[in-house]
Amino acid sequence: MAKVLIAPSILSADFSRLGAAAAAAEAAGADLIHVDVMDGHFVPNITFGPAVVGSLKRSTQLSLDVHLMISRPERYVADFVDAGADFVTVHAEATPHLHGILTQVRQAGAKAGLAVNPLTPLDVVELALPYLDLVLVMSVNPGFGGQPFIPGSVARVEATRRMRDRVNPNCLVEVDGGITTKTAPGVVAAGADVLVAGSAVFGHGTVSENLAALRAALSQPNEPGA
Ligand code: DX5
Ligand code: ZN
Repeated sequence: MAKVLIAPSILSADFSRLGAAAAAAEAAGADLIHVDVMDGHFVPNITFGPAVVGSLKRSTQLSLDVHLMISRPERYVADFVDAGADFVTVHAEATPHLHGILTQVRQAGAKAGLAVNPLTPLDVVELALPYLDLVLVMSVNPGFGGQPFIPGSVARVEATRRMRDRVNPNCLVEVDGGITTKTAPGVVAAGADVLVAGSAVFGHGTVSENLAALRAALSQPNEPGA
């Protein structure tokens, strides 16, 4: 089985020290840096824009996994790619122009991701897969870190993984929301390639201990229902 990638979300880091947070995650063996962009419209919370992505780009060698929780993301794709986003993920619910924006992301030189909220029908994933480098299955409602994992998400990861294997084996399956040492093994067993983790990495203790704990949890035999 390919190594599971861990993408710490800086949403749970100290916003006055984001460069240090990214550097700590990199030093601790993180695989990507997940950047949650929120506009106060698609989701209630507001976070960062392209300038912050540009600053992060200068703080880490890791790829930046930019998760756009913004309405009409097509307006900002070029700005985020120019700032250094390696993956640009848009929400299926955020635009009527999905095919156009996925093409736009790739033409701009980034990898294209599609995120789906917890009850969004997965048909859109199946249709979009030929245009995708990453599918992001939300396991909480987007907007805030530290929320509990929605258990039905495991079945959605399994279904997404089956579609991915059939339609576009090169596309990564990423899971975002409520990932902890308890929930991570179940989503990996369901077929996730990339785990986003915010509060489990930055919310307590040290980044290196927290990443080590997540890795250790993944190497344990899976407990059903975890
Ligand atoms: C939620 C964001 C997540 C968030 C996850 O809208 O998309 O990336 O940072 O935080 P945790 O891991 O604490 O659930
Ligand atoms: Zn996210």
